[in-house]
Amino acid sequence: MAQDTLTIVDNRTNRPYSLSIEGGAVRATDFRQIKTSPDDFGVMTYDPAFMNTASCRSSITFIDGERGILEYRGYPIEVLAEHCTFLEVAYLLLFGELPKEAELKNWVHAITHHTMLHENTKKFMEGFRHDAHPMAMLVSTVAALATVYPEARDIHDPSNRLLQIERLIGKMPSIAAMSYRHSLGFPYVYPDNDLSYSANFMNMLWKMVEPKYAANPVLARALDILFILHADHEQNCSTNAMRSVGSSHADPYLATAAAAAALSGPLHGGANEEVLKMLDEIGSRENVPSYVKKVREGHGKLMGFGHRVYKNYDPRAKIIKWTAEQVFEVTGRNPKLDIAMELERIALDDDYFVQRKLYPNVDFYSGIIYQAMGFKPEMFTVLFAIPRTVGWLAQWQEMLSDVDQKIARPRQIYIGQRARQFVPMEKRALHAVTSH
Ligand code: ACO
Repeated sequence: MAQDTLTIVDNRTNRPYSLSIEGGAVRATDFRQIKTSPDDFGVMTYDPAFMNTASCRSSITFIDGERGILEYRGYPIEVLAEHCTFLEVAYLLLFGELPKEAELKNWVHAITHHTMLHENTKKFMEGFRHDAHPMAMLVSTVAALATVYPEARDIHDPSNRLLQIERLIGKMPSIAAMSYRHSLGFPYVYPDNDLSYSANFMNMLWKMVEPKYAANPVLARALDILFILHADHEQNCSTNAMRSVGSSHADPYLATAAAAAALSGPLHGGANEEVLKMLDEIGSRENVPSYVKKVREGHGKLMGFGHRVYKNYDPRAKIIKWTAEQVFEVTGRNPKLDIAMELERIALDDDYFVQRKLYPNVDFYSGIIYQAMGFKPEMFTVLFAIPRTVGWLAQWQEMLSDVDQKIARPRQIYIGQRARQFVPMEKRALHAVTSH
């Protein structure tokens, strides 16, 4: 019978080694026994950007990138997007099961009653420049919450952890809405506990002088669906930041701020903002072929295309396309959709993109919906950070209770010089320095 082992022969010593295979993986530390002498450190694995390294065992989110499958706790994303609210999905991601009615009621109550921000936080936000990027405001303000809740540092107490989780999920839309209104110069709006998670977010964004904000139900549902789609995506760049910073036992506000900072980059959550810039640059459907040709020739990338894991259509992009149609019935059609669809059609028929299995990802269509709803592109990544906070926190909890985990500390292969002779200042040679 075949054994779940891998036999390796070290050709330097002719010695064979047998490594166990578990869950399709060998343990990188097992390679350390492969040595040429007793004082040899042993063989390391070299994997920049984690191209083929599992950093954890997780039971939260499953992705089959070849087949375009995404599941939260075993439920297909399409089913959750159709039948659940965002907070229901948040409960599922955090606690592993869909909530019963009473559990959901308590959960929604807990989150709703943590949406208020301390007045000091408001004052802190007022200090940002009028043109500060909303994502930079969000990252800084989430980090600043650590000063408001110093007890969050006790990460070993599960009930204390849960309280911080509820606060973070509750307060994220409030901070996001404040950063939005700050950039417009509008007064901040306080949360309304009568409204659902997304409707309250819309209230804090768009309420003007009316005594009570009435959210359009189609737009509130569309926002809820977009939140469900963005809630978790296993070990991506920002989740890895959350786990890595959290592995030093930093408090959850600081770890979440670090994760949000990772999300802000244009290769990750910042791509949705870049997609809109790209569509603006293309300008019209007629210009699409020449733009694709430029990318094919190595000038820039198609933003919103390609994914480290999906080598097929991102299942979230399909649901977003469907959601876009519902939104456009309320807001009117965003003309950028025609350019985006033409871009997708031409790219998916082009050898360069076909060979590299580059398909639209979640960010390709989300910005077009957000823009139709009235958001400026600078807000798009903030809209991503609100729901992803749930995923970050679920992954953080899982990491803390995983006995295999320790402080994240990669190895390196040192390629610099060693044991150099110190040179006194007057004897040092001039060498070119490009800039200061
Ligand atoms: N446009 C043009 N070419 C691309 C694109 C793109 N969007 N994405 C990848 N490629 C090419 C690369 O140049 C490379 O070509 P080569 O083999 O000739 O060198 C090949 O496809 C493989 O790409 P890599 O960059 O090696 O793939 P990687 O897994 O490292 O990157 C990433 C994935 C960062 C998402 C990349 O596809 C990209 O930059 N896309 C655009 C930004 C984007 O949309 N990011 C959002 C991702 S979803 C999310 O984070 C929420």
